[in-house]
Amino acid sequence: MLIDIITIFPEMCRGPLSESIMGRAQQSGLLTLRVHDLRDYADNKHRKVDDEPYGGGQGMVMKPEPFFAVVEHLRTEASRVVLMTPQGRRLNQQEVVGFVSAEHLIVLCGHYEGIDHRVVETLVDDEISIGDYVLSNGAIAANVFVDAIVRQLPGVLGDARSAGDDSFANGLLEAPCYTRPPEFRGMKVPEILISGNHGKVDEWKARRSRERTLQNRPDLLRE
Ligand code: ADE
Repeated sequence: MLIDIITIFPEMCRGPLSESIMGRAQQSGLLTLRVHDLRDYADNKHRKVDDEPYGGGQGMVMKPEPFFAVVEHLRTEASRVVLMTPQGRRLNQQEVVGFVSAEHLIVLCGHYEGIDHRVVETLVDDEISIGDYVLSNGAIAANVFVDAIVRQLPGVLGDARSAGDDSFANGLLEAPCYTRPPEFRGMKVPEILISGNHGKVDEWKARRSRERTLQNRPDLLRE
């Protein structure tokens, strides 16, 4: 998969997305990630990419010209253009899976009060929010979005089952997990997990998964 991220803070994406699984996905060629500085596409010598809002109001609005320039430069028939914005559809695992088959994602990061709406209407295929809170800029949201998609690409996780076992993969939260030692400060690992009885272990996991979902995310059981 090819992913282009467009931001005025490229280092906010380059660092986080070069570590761990995202770094290995790039080294193994499963992901090509390019992070671009939007200011390189500014149409003025001051590299200014924002301006005052028409109609008044607080803050600055990102100008349309640099977004049109960069998207028109990068876009192909296979591209899907995504804008990270708190006004977007809220990301969940089902949404993530919907992006896994994309060949090329162009991820636009907002900043300031918002982006000139002509960008949204004309260039953007999907407006995505990572949750009902406002971040200081979309680069952080882009990191979350890209990580969630890339870890689903075939071959990226070492163990083919890992992504399928994730919380949300079956609509529920994952059961608790334990490792050695079997007893720590008087707290014991549940007997069943050490028993070697796979049938019983699966039953236990299914029950604890439902209990945890009921406790922390009852909304998932109602959906
Ligand atoms: N930019 C600022 N807040 C955001 C959010 N919650 N999701 C996506 N992009 C954002």
